[in-house]
Amino acid sequence: MDISEEDFVTHVMKHLFRARGIDLSGYSQSFVMRSIKKRLGRSGATDYTGYLHLLTHNEQETNDLLGALSINVTEFFRDKGAFEGFTSEVLRPLLASKIREGGVLRIWSAGCATGQETYTIAICVAEEIKRLQCISAPVVGIQGTDISSKAVAKAKSGLYTQAETKGLTEKHLNHYFEKKGADYEVVQPLRKGVRFSVENLLEPPSGSYYDAIVCRNVMIYFTRKMHDVVTMHLFKALRGGGYLMLGRTETLMGAPRASFDVIDLENRILRKK
Ligand SMILES: C[S@@+](CC[C@H](N)C(=O)[O-])C[C@H]1O[C@@H](n2cnc3c(N)ncnc32)[C@H](O)[C@@H]1O
Repeated sequence: MDISEEDFVTHVMKHLFRARGIDLSGYSQSFVMRSIKKRLGRSGATDYTGYLHLLTHNEQETNDLLGALSINVTEFFRDKGAFEGFTSEVLRPLLASKIREGGVLRIWSAGCATGQETYTIAICVAEEIKRLQCISAPVVGIQGTDISSKAVAKAKSGLYTQAETKGLTEKHLNHYFEKKGADYEVVQPLRKGVRFSVENLLEPPSGSYYDAIVCRNVMIYFTRKMHDVVTMHLFKALRGGGYLMLGRTETLMGAPRASFDVIDLENRILRKK
């Protein structure tokens, strides 16, 4: 006999909590159930027990379920004005110091989903370098990472449907994208210096000494304990004087909070002391 619907949802939520530190208890239970059922129908599992077995033995199914829960939702220039704040408060001072003192400008887009955030940062950098008309522009390295291998594969492809180009102006679209059939592909010059990899923020980061870390709308799904773990990893990966940008509705908690100055409250831009 199969388990009850209530026990099934409880087990799925416990799995997401244990495996990914994601707490869905604040979500509408009917939304969670609908999303799980959608995945169950597509997964090939015939009952709740079968689906639970698949979920706990196949990492891709966890990623697909998170996809069904819209946890990968993103867009170019997400939150109006946020990247204007990023350009003026983060990029301008960083580019000025790299032009003055040399060195590579290193930015990490942590929890980048399908790459729109990472390419948004690349567009902001390209536009700012153009505006500065500098003779020799600083070298820029932008690292996009996400736990979902499917999302990272799409980010690497740099290919977006018309609907996914939401947030881009006509000018950006013409300048930084090429039409590929019905889709749009990021042009090579913009991809130069942009790298993507699969990385779990709950584990120590592979990179360090970043000048800026953009980690937006990732920690909202985390429990307080996971939030603290991720915050510590971001803190360690950022160089002194480096910038951290969170999502508009996010607040930095935990021990490293005291080591940051708030630069732009509205756009959640902080600077490591
Ligand atoms: C809502 S999206 C945010 C995307 C982008 N930062 C933005 O603001 O548009 C959240 C992303 O966090 C990723 N994520 C969730 N848990 C993660 C973890 N432990 N490590 C790395 N990425 C994670 C998800 O796969 C998802 O792509």
